[in-house]
Amino acid sequence: MSSIESIMTENRVFEPSEAFKAQANIKGMEGYQALCGQAEKDYEGFWAGLAKELLVWKKPFTKVLDESNAPFYKWFDDGELNVSYNCLDKHLATQPDKTAIIFEADDGKVTRITYKELYHRVCEFANALRALGAKKGDRIIIYLPMSIEAAVAMQACARIGAIHSVVFGGFSAKSLHERITDASAKMVITADGQFRGGKAMPLKHAVDDALAMGGCDCVEKVVVYRRTGGEAAWDAGRDVWWHDAVKGQADTCEPEWVGAEHPLFILYTSGSTGKPKGVQHASGGFLLHAIATMRWTFDYKDSDVFWCTADVGWITGHTYVAYGPLAVGATEIMFEGVPTYPDAGRFWRMIQDHKVTTFYTAPTAIRSLIKLGGDLPKQYDLTSLRLLGTVGEPINPEAWMWYYNTVGQTRCPIVDTWWQTETGGHMITPLPGVHGLKPGSCTMPLPGVMAAIVDEAGHDAEKGKGGFLVIKRPWPSMIRTIYGDPERYKKNYYPEDLGGKYYLAGDGANRDLDGYFWIMGRIDDVLNVSGHRLGTMEIESALVANPLVAEAAVVGKPHDIKGEAVVAYVVLKGHRPEGDAAKKIVADLREWVGKEIGPIAKPDEIRFGDNLPKTRSGKIMRRLLRALAKGEEITQDVSTLENPAILEQLKEVVK
Ligand code: WTA
Repeated sequence: MSSIESIMTENRVFEPSEAFKAQANIKGMEGYQALCGQAEKDYEGFWAGLAKELLVWKKPFTKVLDESNAPFYKWFDDGELNVSYNCLDKHLATQPDKTAIIFEADDGKVTRITYKELYHRVCEFANALRALGAKKGDRIIIYLPMSIEAAVAMQACARIGAIHSVVFGGFSAKSLHERITDASAKMVITADGQFRGGKAMPLKHAVDDALAMGGCDCVEKVVVYRRTGGEAAWDAGRDVWWHDAVKGQADTCEPEWVGAEHPLFILYTSGSTGKPKGVQHASGGFLLHAIATMRWTFDYKDSDVFWCTADVGWITGHTYVAYGPLAVGATEIMFEGVPTYPDAGRFWRMIQDHKVTTFYTAPTAIRSLIKLGGDLPKQYDLTSLRLLGTVGEPINPEAWMWYYNTVGQTRCPIVDTWWQTETGGHMITPLPGVHGLKPGSCTMPLPGVMAAIVDEAGHDAEKGKGGFLVIKRPWPSMIRTIYGDPERYKKNYYPEDLGGKYYLAGDGANRDLDGYFWIMGRIDDVLNVSGHRLGTMEIESALVANPLVAEAAVVGKPHDIKGEAVVAYVVLKGHRPEGDAAKKIVADLREWVGKEIGPIAKPDEIRFGDNLPKTRSGKIMRRLLRALAKGEEITQDVSTLENPAILEQLKEVVK
């Protein structure tokens, strides 16, 4: 709580300029309140009106919200549409030659693709997938680097009604295996390798390793996009090159018209147990929210050049790279590389070269770019920018001010967008022509989003008092279920403690006297490392799976750039190691976690003990471990601790 209290002493407010307001899609507090008022008065009518206005339906819906089997809500259930049609075909008559994607490769090479070209490429690939046996409802894993092909693959799945599950290219073979088997995927789409920071790195081998781990008989085909030309092992019966698969395929493809509730994708994310959750999204509601927020939050205009830097492996890369920008007909940037290569001016140079108007990135990227070159933006012409955004974690006011002054040159509003994999799109965020901005606050809920803060019993918290962030009414782009585990969905997001009627976000939040929301971070055992969600349990299970390890506990500790760093407390099966032996085991365990989950989950620190601090009832005292990780004096009562002597051991960081 103390960190949030200090943030809340922040009392600067940055109002939108008159000029911005005058051209904004939602103008001023009056405009915002009018929309909120409509949603309050007629909730279903509000969303139905937008769904009719913003989506192209093959068969119009007659039902809006079906709450009969709560919390398994349905939206626009009897309507039929196709998401890819809404992103591509829709623009063919009006703007076939507009650039859809400007792709900049790691080495700086730029490729542009128009809406018409993208449409044909998606159709060709959709036909190829069908020819390989993919059908409506099949699950297809996509394990690709940032590329036009990644967008094509996602859109092609949507076109034929197949359900994609994108796995971030930084995840290990083990993580990939877990997702392939959980989803019983029929196909995997991958690349031979990827370029990042000037280096070619293999990718397909992780798919081969994952499929060799067993339980993957479901996978019939692996489609491989040739990117690096590096060596790749080949299974002639199973593997097929992308370029061979599309050969001879027609460049038009009748879309599969699906019900609005047909699953569009599954995206795995960390929860508070060891197993990642397959968050399942529906077609109609998801796309509706993506389009609405492109207009509201990003104030989308036809002349914009939109750049969301997220990888397609995360939800942000789904809603604001693969779907939202295309659905509104935007020109958007996709970037293969890393922000620090060839130097920390890469983003700024790209904004200048491509005349980016709207730039959306993560606080962790901002902090690392400040550190590596806080003055670099000044060397570039950033006058094309008109709007900035952040997502993924609370942004600290210092980073916010730098972003505002140095990147946005005090001209660009910053939309600090709070949302989650489960929410599908923005939920609490400033509207750039409406809200006065307070650095560090995501400000207010979007129209039609009934966000609130409640106590343990589900009663509204008093203003200024913290509590659990909940959403009181279902919304169109919400998670539909956890794939294969509806009970977990219900328990996790609609807990009985809160009466089973509110969506529990898993974040703590506070609301100030002006009604602004301040996110305090997760209330469950989920860490936020560089804006990526990692379950402490997931990392603990990975550690314990190592033959040397008897027990492990993982906590987060504040980190200047990553937001949170992973600290692991480990008890080995043998003796507590010291000196060089300890160093060697630390290196091995970090490597191990990298292999089990992915490099992002590697602990920054590992500390060894003969034991972990537990209460007499056997519960690990995580609060104590967090305090130790921060190097704080232990002031809490340790008399209930089974073995207080080990606290000294756990203070020691192996370096
Ligand atoms: C955190 C990312 C504060 C939060 C879209 C949430 C934020 C989790 C913000 C979801 C923000 C995201 N301010 N915290 N603007 N945006 N978070 O599923 O803890 O990867 O629950 O979705 O990130 O992470 P996820």
